[in-house]
Amino acid sequence: MRRKHAILTVLTTGALAAAAVLTVTPSANAATTLGSAASAKGKYFGTAAAAYKFSDSVYTGILDREFTMVTPENEMKWDATEPSQNSFSYSSADTIVNRAKANGQRVRGHALAWHSQQPGWVSSLSGTALRNAMINHITNVATHYKGQLYAWDVVNEAFSDNGDGSRRSSNLQNTGNDWIEVAFKTARAADSTAKLCYNDYNTDGVNAKSTAVYNMVKDFLARGVPIDCVGFQSHINSASPLPSDYQANLQRFADLGVEVQITELDIAGSGSAQATTYANVVKACLAVTKCAGITVWGIRDSDSWRSGDTPLLFDNSGNPKAAYNSVISAFGATTSSPSASVSPSVSVSPSTSTSPGTGGACTATFSNNAWTGGFVTTVTVKAGSSVLNGWRVGITLPSGAAITNSWSTTASGSSGAVTFSNVNYNGSVAAGASTSFGFQGTGSAPSGTASCSA
Ligand code: XIL
Repeated sequence: MRRKHAILTVLTTGALAAAAVLTVTPSANAATTLGSAASAKGKYFGTAAAAYKFSDSVYTGILDREFTMVTPENEMKWDATEPSQNSFSYSSADTIVNRAKANGQRVRGHALAWHSQQPGWVSSLSGTALRNAMINHITNVATHYKGQLYAWDVVNEAFSDNGDGSRRSSNLQNTGNDWIEVAFKTARAADSTAKLCYNDYNTDGVNAKSTAVYNMVKDFLARGVPIDCVGFQSHINSASPLPSDYQANLQRFADLGVEVQITELDIAGSGSAQATTYANVVKACLAVTKCAGITVWGIRDSDSWRSGDTPLLFDNSGNPKAAYNSVISAFGATTSSPSASVSPSVSVSPSTSTSPGTGGACTATFSNNAWTGGFVTTVTVKAGSSVLNGWRVGITLPSGAAITNSWSTTASGSSGAVTFSNVNYNGSVAAGASTSFGFQGTGSAPSGTASCSA
């Protein structure tokens, strides 16, 4: 589990001498996140991520804090990885994979063979030439990521929405009905460790399309064609609401012996209706032992491929929505920080009237998850015997270290002695209660003491 290996926890109480405590267990005050709530139930919680957004610190802050699985949103598709025939381009996808690995997150590969987002050169091919191009593509891309991925969406969206269980017409389908099994065999030959998934939409309930996929999986298993998992995209909106037999549908695939994964979840709507539907998806996955986890298709509403539907768990500013809280609760956890329940909240400015430690106003503890060249620090701010209305934490970074992003706080600088102030949703802390924030940096992780003033 990422960020659970606390290396050093340092307690400080104002001007009192600091006590350093070595610990190998998570801090009791560790913030609940989507990832930690899911992990506690043996599931992962992932998101689609876009490499071009990594310069946005609000985006990376949430990505690093909340998720244990990452799917490149577009960077592993055929047009991105093989823009001209037999010339491969992995830099954007590698950026995502390497960043995820550095943060202890796993990666779902998406997608090796699909009728959409193909490079232009593919459209001039057909027959054996196209079949061979597909095999070459899968072999190269799966080999490049060999041993690095949790799963691959080997084939995406190969069935039609006609209601008759037929295959979608496409150039790949025109190469012969066996194109799907050839794709799976090719992927397995290149990478024997990634789980190989079939992925589709409008397969979320029991219907003609999902039954056609079900029959294909059953047939593959009977004939020894390698397939390990089925992905249910779960793009939910008014035209395609969450089916009442969602869980039963997941279960019937699980009963075939494959893992099931919710791969591209987004739910149009807002407020409690949206929150309830999100909770129902989580409950369905929890009820199906072979449901390995849930991936949402983006972080903030503004990151969504259908942003007009406000379908995600964070608003455009990166604040958690009601649906975020309902996901956490559906996993049986409780929200700590950030909390959507305080929204809308007034902006609270930190007061400087109380000097650190005086009256036990607040204490700050922190833990690091460090790797060669970088670190993530999670800080817990605990109120003393009085309510906090704004707080500030001081931490001095070692020479050469620099903060690259932070979340649930505003940092005064990026190196040396840095002051971290509350943001609007976590300035108010009840007496004896805690809130958390974090930051990521390059260089060595901080050690020593944190000061806290209110
Ligand atoms: C979408 C991406 O989110 C967009 O950025 C892109 O422009 C189009 O593709 N089903 C899939 C995903 O399997 O790859 C799609 O992602 C959404 C539908």
